[in-house]
Amino acid sequence: MGAITSARELISSARRIATFSGAGLSAESGIPTFRDALTGHWARYDPAELASPEGFARNPELIIEWYNDRRRTLASSTPNAAHQAMADRTGLLHVTQNVDHLLERAGAEQVLHLHGRIDSDRCHRSCGYSESIDISDPPGLRPCPQCGAQLRPAVVWFGEPLPEEVWNSSVEAVEAADLLIVIGTSGVVFPAAGLIDQARRGSAAVIVVNAEPIRTISDITIIGSAAEIVPQLLSA
Ligand code: APR
Repeated sequence: MGAITSARELISSARRIATFSGAGLSAESGIPTFRDALTGHWARYDPAELASPEGFARNPELIIEWYNDRRRTLASSTPNAAHQAMADRTGLLHVTQNVDHLLERAGAEQVLHLHGRIDSDRCHRSCGYSESIDISDPPGLRPCPQCGAQLRPAVVWFGEPLPEEVWNSSVEAVEAADLLIVIGTSGVVFPAAGLIDQARRGSAAVIVVNAEPIRTISDITIIGSAAEIVPQLLSA
């Protein structure tokens, strides 16, 4: 039996399915992975400089300019066939490391963003203020209207903790699942990647769909493009 047929059988017999996705899910929507995005003007910067509290402290204008560049790219992107298939299959709970909102734009209802969302800003001092922004015309560096500190993208930077509630809900979701479908992630960035082991400990089966082999232990691994494979797995 082919891997796709076996995966479809696992999916049709599962009662609770969760997905865990990364940059590879959005690659075919034209959203470069973090590392691929560091091209052109941005090639001379280090990711730790562009996505860390230390980098923001050193040069906040530069960091905002980098995120605004990514926001404009996202504004002109559309969900791909993988997002659409995930959204169309009702009852799935999606845990994503992606800061885009392409799953939601495809119509998905239950999406947990482990690393935050790029279409919002929040207070860097954590006074609690946040606001959604127009990603096609994002504003520059500005102060928090509530406390006067700087506003920053509402994403998780290197060295920062994950949002606690989202993390707890994600752990609950993968522990309750009897199947976890892992899509387009290298599975090397922790703590997020630890959810795959957590799912296995909760005795979920694991299907991996990725462009290249990853180290995670899985029941079925399908090497290929998410936009091509995921619809084949999830279509009725
Ligand atoms: N279809 C399927 N998989 C793909 C595709 C595609 N079209 N394109 C790329 N991939 C795979 C790559 O082979 C790679 O294994 O997706 C994976 C993406 O891995 P990373 O770039 O490491 O992205 P991710 O796992 O999401 O990284 C986690 O690290 O950059 C930080 O905070 C950022 O949330 C991100 C986290």
